Amino acid sequence: MISHKSTLFTESVIRGMTRLCNLHDAVNLSQGTPGFDPPEEVKEAAIQAIRDGYNQYSITWGAPNLRQAIARKMTTFNGIPTDSELHVTVTCGATEGMMSAMLAIINPGDEVIIFEPFYENYGPDVIISGAKPVYVPLRDTPNGEFTYDPDELRNAFSTNTKVIVLNTPNNPLGKVFTRDELQQIARLCCEFDCLAVTDEIYEHIIYTSRPHISIGSLPEMRDRTITVSGLSKSYSMTGWRLGYVIAPEYLTNAIRKMHDFLTVGAPHPLQEAGAVALQLGEEYYRQLVDRYDQNRKLFLDLLTEAGFRCYPPEGAYYIMTDISGFGFPDDTEFAHWLVREIGVGGVPGSSFYSRPELGKTKFRFMFSKPESVLREAGERLMQIRDKIARRG
Ligand SMILES: Cc1ncc(COP(=O)(O)O)c(C=O)c1O
Repeated sequence: MISHKSTLFTESVIRGMTRLCNLHDAVNLSQGTPGFDPPEEVKEAAIQAIRDGYNQYSITWGAPNLRQAIARKMTTFNGIPTDSELHVTVTCGATEGMMSAMLAIINPGDEVIIFEPFYENYGPDVIISGAKPVYVPLRDTPNGEFTYDPDELRNAFSTNTKVIVLNTPNNPLGKVFTRDELQQIARLCCEFDCLAVTDEIYEHIIYTSRPHISIGSLPEMRDRTITVSGLSKSYSMTGWRLGYVIAPEYLTNAIRKMHDFLTVGAPHPLQEAGAVALQLGEEYYRQLVDRYDQNRKLFLDLLTEAGFRCYPPEGAYYIMTDISGFGFPDDTEFAHWLVREIGVGGVPGSSFYSRPELGKTKFRFMFSKPESVLREAGERLMQIRDKIARRG
């Protein structure tokens, strides 16, 4: 009785790891749920919005206050001139934003290029929208950075390519795409007449001196880019389900239709409070990055001490590691053992690859937790080598 499409992908490994952590009372460093609350004034604004009567549907593509705040931020921070009436669709998280965007542009047989490893949602996004994925590997270089081979990227493009999916800063690697890379991708999009769909949900969480660059801000990409982002990560409000899609006018109508019939709209009172969040000043973002950078340094040290080989992230709040030194047959077995025996949860690397064998030596941790939680996880992880020795 079930659809063919629903058999083509598994349930989310990341969300499954959270359930496993709950079962074993493990420190959960798997799912990207911040261990912090949104700023007080934003929480107050949400309560006030409910009291002020914002309790019914908003305009389907977003409450005017929030769309205007998003348009201002896109124009100034991202460098993409944005009109709140023509270019903005507020969605139920970036998750729905990606899905609505893909449904709005994909026809059967269209190919979608995805850098691998990738955030696990892009797999089902592609299958549900009916596209054919074409993967391009991101490999680590001797200086510890990840990049793609320009020839491999070029060979991935064909006359069937409709879209290249970008994610910068990237989950799971923390890679921040450089201007050179984005310009190279833009040239290919123009040559092969295709679009970029870019997920920039971690745009405010960057540790390098290089700034975040939106590919949609490159003049040649203005009419070829759909930018997806949201408030979940920048304001620690993953449960509020606020995301948005910025697209040229000729694409926005199709995206708004998909969005309307998928969800009608994002929660109205929370949209009103979201507009307040977007008005926070520079200081807020500086403190956010400082806090995450401290966590990053601390947890890199703890993981290295515990025997993991780490790939230091340039952005976002995840650390990809190599677990080959521990001698487990694969990442999934390691993940289950780690939750059960050590009491710490992470995500098996294979869930970020099209074929599990590509990620079987990789393991991802998130570090968006208070310092005390990371230290507790660190203490537990220090027992790994002992337990492995005793296991024989
Ligand atoms: C790259 C990326 N995009 C999107 C999301 C989900 O965003 P939202 O909560 O806005 O749906 C996540 C969450 O982990 C993510 O890592």
